Amino acid sequence: MLDTPANRPDLPPEIARRRTFAIISHPDAGKTTLTEKFLLFGGAIQMAGQVRAKGEARRTRSDFMQMEKDRGISVSASAMSFDYSDFRFNLVDTPGHSDFSEDTYRTLTAVDAAVMVIDGAKGVESQTRKLFEVCRLRDLPILTFCNKMDRESRDTFDIIDEIQENLAIDVTPASWPIGVGSEFLGCYDILRDRLELMDRKDRNKVAESIRIAGLEDPKLAEHVPPHLLDKLVEEVEMARELLPKLDPQSVLEGHMTPIWFGSAINSFGVKELMDGIATYGPVPQVQSAEPRQIAPEEKKVAGFVFKVQANMDPKHRDRVAFVRMASGHFERGMKLTHVRSKKPMTISNPVMFLASDRELAEEAWAGDIIGIPNHGQLRIGDTLTEGEALRVTGIPSFAPELLQSCRAGDPMKAKHLEKALMQFAEEGAAKVFKPSFGSGFIVGVVGPLQFEVLGSRIEMEYGLPVRFDSSQFTSARWVKGERQAVDKFVNANKQHIATDHDGDVVYLTRLQWDIDRVERDYPDVTLSATKEMM
Ligand code: G4P
Repeated sequence: MLDTPANRPDLPPEIARRRTFAIISHPDAGKTTLTEKFLLFGGAIQMAGQVRAKGEARRTRSDFMQMEKDRGISVSASAMSFDYSDFRFNLVDTPGHSDFSEDTYRTLTAVDAAVMVIDGAKGVESQTRKLFEVCRLRDLPILTFCNKMDRESRDTFDIIDEIQENLAIDVTPASWPIGVGSEFLGCYDILRDRLELMDRKDRNKVAESIRIAGLEDPKLAEHVPPHLLDKLVEEVEMARELLPKLDPQSVLEGHMTPIWFGSAINSFGVKELMDGIATYGPVPQVQSAEPRQIAPEEKKVAGFVFKVQANMDPKHRDRVAFVRMASGHFERGMKLTHVRSKKPMTISNPVMFLASDRELAEEAWAGDIIGIPNHGQLRIGDTLTEGEALRVTGIPSFAPELLQSCRAGDPMKAKHLEKALMQFAEEGAAKVFKPSFGSGFIVGVVGPLQFEVLGSRIEMEYGLPVRFDSSQFTSARWVKGERQAVDKFVNANKQHIATDHDGDVVYLTRLQWDIDRVERDYPDVTLSATKEMM
């Protein structure tokens, strides 16, 4: 095993070898391609092309619905585990579409690091920036992969400058590209002083790397034509002088990102990046919880639910709760305490996701992600322990940005609709509010596409056609405060009051002015745009 600062010597080796991370990127930068190459080199798939659906079609709405219908695909893609050298990588998928940013946020609570993929021609794009900000909130270490170097791309210094300035993070080159576009030969591996050449013949193969003794080594000239060699030597010298040196501690603290250049489609630069994740990526981290933190090396098992996916098999109405193991060594069949209900749960059929298959998980260590099939007991934010009343914190629910009223096409089916909506609320797919006045429900989401997905899922999974209409409200806030103060507030503002799926009181309005007024007139209550999931 590599001796790095990320490997705490006090950790059991099984935990120390785990790397749990997500990939963040703007659509089209190459996340799917890179994921596939990770799986290929991790031995989880035999051939590239097994994971991805076809190009553009995949991103159209109809195809998105199809994917939702075919729950198998999106589920196996939610968390994938594979071995790479001495390491176990757990790659957690973040939904790419910006409409699902809340889900993405919660997914990022389950990882210890992120790989940021950018397109060498486009640099830092809007979605990259948003996701980066989320990572920053949690001080997640970030490793950067600059993709598509086989195409015309921007000047290397420009790309690095843009990341430094745009994202306010130190950037240190782990490799340096040689030529661009059709002239792209490969990279000089700055960390290991060797030449990595790209194999253009076989996209699934990695060309041999050539060990050299520094930039003066005559062997370089045997592989790199003079005009590219001069440029390379000059640039690498400049980079070494001007750019910060790799500081592993600073990477772990999220202040510095090493950048690798490559071409995922040509399998180039991917192994170097994987070595980088192994070497500089963090081991499973301490988890914040109440009343105390959870350390990965603790003997007792603890874990928390960060995602719930329902109706994976519509015939059985089952749900899978995705659990990030926070500590200990879990074994199948263990009896864990579901802290919220204080009830024991025997975990007899946990699953792990290995590429496109799901398998029974016989065991799992801190850092791993397992799926627990259940009938609705497990919700986002729930903690499972071996008995201690711990509650993992930091998994928020955000106030929705779009509200619509929702009615069943058939008024006789209102009860069915309630059941369906509550289930989606528990899954985290939408916020559902039941107004204290009138009938029907108010559904809140972050992006408009979610309404469409929700409508089609309710129809598909419950056989219930539904209608979404514009709502008189545009904002929702959770009402917090002492019981008496909240009751007084509720009684005086009935027209604006609703409850969410947990029964918590929510204030609905269309005016920021209203919110300001409440804050002024009711100093004992707080209107909050977030709520801790519990
Ligand atoms: P995403 O998941 O981030 O959205 O990106 P994805 O991997 O789907 O890649 C987006 C497009 O970029 C795909 O082309 C893919 O083949 C291409 N691509 C990925 N990596 C590289 C690379 O290193 N070099 C080059 N030149 N292209 C790359 P597409 O035309 O949308 O799909 P397809 O027809 O190739 O399947």
